[in-house]
Amino acid sequence: MRLLGIFCFLCVFLSCQEDAEQEKKYTYLDLEIPENFPLPVYDIANNRPTQEGFDLGKKLFYDGRLSSTGVISCGFCHIQEFSFTHHTHIVSHGVNGALGTRNAQGLQNLIFMKEFNWDGSVPHLDAQPIVPITTEVEMNESITNVLEKLKADPQYVEDFEKAFDNGEIDTENMLKALSQFMMMMVSADTKYDRVMRNEGSTFNTEEQQGKTLFDTKCASCHSGVLFTDQSFRNNGLPIDPQYNDIGRKRVTGQDNDLYKFKVPTLRNIAITFPYMHDGRFSTLKDVLDHYDNGVANTENIDPLFVNENGLGIPLTENEKDLIISFLNTLTDDNFILDSRFSEF
Ligand code: HEC
Ligand code: HEC
Repeated sequence: MRLLGIFCFLCVFLSCQEDAEQEKKYTYLDLEIPENFPLPVYDIANNRPTQEGFDLGKKLFYDGRLSSTGVISCGFCHIQEFSFTHHTHIVSHGVNGALGTRNAQGLQNLIFMKEFNWDGSVPHLDAQPIVPITTEVEMNESITNVLEKLKADPQYVEDFEKAFDNGEIDTENMLKALSQFMMMMVSADTKYDRVMRNEGSTFNTEEQQGKTLFDTKCASCHSGVLFTDQSFRNNGLPIDPQYNDIGRKRVTGQDNDLYKFKVPTLRNIAITFPYMHDGRFSTLKDVLDHYDNGVANTENIDPLFVNENGLGIPLTENEKDLIISFLNTLTDDNFILDSRFSEF
């Protein structure tokens, strides 16, 4: 009987503790998945975005203190106006102007992605920020130092307190907050989407013809509403002796991954120039010229580019213009102007 009493006491005690934790009030954010989109890959239930966590993530995203020099924030290389790319920079540059070797990717629809970076080196969105923070040519800082800086700031102490049950300023919470900010970046309000969802928009003749060409010539890799099948492939870029980036092989060590890169999304592509992992092309016309007559027979070239007449995807000048008209329907003006994501 007495044992039972102690047991009950323990239960009450434990549930009291739980209540204390639950007392924290969060404003949960609605993460609407557009009806023409697939299910998210990111386990949202495990890090449900709240206003408090999102605001903290946004503050971290735009805070130069995440870098060793105090001035290079995530937002320095990921500029909203250009769908979070490092506009005009062929390869991104970080602390003290140090040059990286790759073009900064856009940030959008990340919760639908299985792997991150051009070579898929990061398998989870929460782990992604560790790479830029600790990379010498990017933010060149250690996570320990970043956490120390945050702990020294009473405002951050309060922000973490508000955003998380345990209120700790630690790696897990910092990464979760950054993810809460980035997971809300769903870009699905383009002309293309409005046509696909029958929301009253229609393609003009060029856009429609461009779409038909795109569907037959490009969509085997740039497939579905995300415009990527998320595979790694070699699209025949001539080897650049300056960087000689080995691509996916860097991750797997496998020779058959040499020169393969993640098929990138084409959403917001009109505004995310320059193009390719090393930013070698400045216009969409350059990209289409590459597919038409610039494809090089490097190791592991994708079989789709090898045909009886040679290499690449033959395209007339008119066909290139039509495809570009279609690609221009993939720009989401509301996303790049969305004040939820802007620095100020
Ligand atoms: C110095 C410029 C720079 C800074 C600063 C930077 N990034 Fe990046 N980011 C890049 C580059 C370049 C890539 C592509 C890297 C690669 O492929 O190896 C990238 C890739 C990414 C990706 C992967 C996108 C995808 O589609 O796979 C995410 C997410 C990301 N960055 C988030 C962040 C966050 C969060 C921060 C701040 C903690 C940050 N970045 C800071 C340049 C930068
Ligand atoms: C066999 C697969 C494949 C096909 C077919 C293909 N692409 Fe690509 N595409 C890729 C890969 C892989 C990359 C990234 C290559 C890199 O950066 O090394 C890419 C990159 C691009 C980029 C640059 C994106 C960026 O963010 O920098 C554009 C634009 C593009 N492709 C458009 C097209 C168009 C238009 C077609 C049809 C004419 C097409 N692609 C056909 C695989 C393909």
